[in-house]
Amino acid sequence: MTLKGKTAFVTGGSRGIGRAICAALADQGAKVAFCHYNDPEADTTLDLINARTRGLAMSADVADEQAVDGFFDTACAVLGTPDILVNNAGILAESPLANTDADAFDRVIAVNLRGSFLAARAFVRRANTGRIVNIASDLGLLGRENMLAYTASKGAIITMTRTLARELAPDILVNAVAPGSTETDMTSPENMSPEAIAKDLDTPLARFGQPREIAEMVAYLAGPKSGFITGQCFGVNGGSVML
Ligand SMILES: NC(=O)c1ccc[n+]([C@@H]2O[C@H](COP(=O)([O-])OP(=O)(O)OC[C@H]3O[C@@H](n4cnc5c(N)ncnc54)[C@H](O)[C@@H]3O)[C@@H](O)[C@H]2O)c1
Repeated sequence: MTLKGKTAFVTGGSRGIGRAICAALADQGAKVAFCHYNDPEADTTLDLINARTRGLAMSADVADEQAVDGFFDTACAVLGTPDILVNNAGILAESPLANTDADAFDRVIAVNLRGSFLAARAFVRRANTGRIVNIASDLGLLGRENMLAYTASKGAIITMTRTLARELAPDILVNAVAPGSTETDMTSPENMSPEAIAKDLDTPLARFGQPREIAEMVAYLAGPKSGFITGQCFGVNGGSVML
C-alpha cells in the first residue's frame, strides 16, 4: 500500500490502459478520480476503484479547457487535492499524409498533447508537490508511417515531460511511460490496419502487452521508491525500442 493517503487523477480512465492504471493506483491505496469521453464503460472502472478505495468518474473532454478545469474542481471537492496526475487519455488516427484531413490532425493533437498540457496546468495550479506521469508511445520515438498526428503528439509528450521535469523540480517529479502495442480497443482490428498490427508484433517479445503491464510502471513512478527519477521516458514495449 505505497500510495495510502494519496489522491490520483487519471485522464482517460474508463477502459484499456487507463482502467488498469486506476486499478493499480487503487491497489496501492490511492483514491482515484478519472475522466473519460462519454464512455459507458466508466462504471466498470469506478466499481473497480470503489472496491479498493474511493473513486470518482466524470465525462470531460481533455481538449476542452473548461471541461478539464471542471473535472479538477469536482475531483478536488470530492477526493481532495491531487498528489498524482496520470495523463493517459489519447486517440489514434491512421491515414496516409495526402489523405489526412486537417481537422482530424488537429483533433489528435488537441486530445493527446493539448489535453496533457491542460491537465498538467490544472494539476500545478492546485498541487505544490507530487508526481506527473505522461503516457507517450514507442511510436513517439520510432515514428510510424500513416500516423503523423499520433506519432508527433507522442514525441511532443516526451519533450513536454523533460521540460516540465526541469520546470517543476524539485517538488513535482515528471516522467513518461512509452508503451509498446498493448491489447486495448485502440489496437483492435476496427481501429488499426492489419499492416500496422503486423508491424506492432514484429518485436523481440512478439506479442502485445497487457494493460496491467503498463500500469505497474505507472504505479512505481507515482510511488515513494522512484524519488530520484525525473524527466525520464520508460519503454514498456516488449523490446520494440532499445535505448
Ligand atoms: N494500446 C496501445 O497499444 C498503446 C500503445 C502506446 C500508447 N498508448 C497510449 O495509451 C493511452 C491509452 O490508450 P488505450 O489503448 O487504453 O486506449 P483506449 O481507446 O482503450 O482508451 C482511451 C481512453 O481515453 C479516453 N479518451 C479518449 N478521448 C478522450 C477525450 N477527448 N477526453 C477525455 N478522455 C478521452 C477514453 O474515454 C478512454 O478512457 C493513450 O494515450 C494511447 O495513445 C496505447
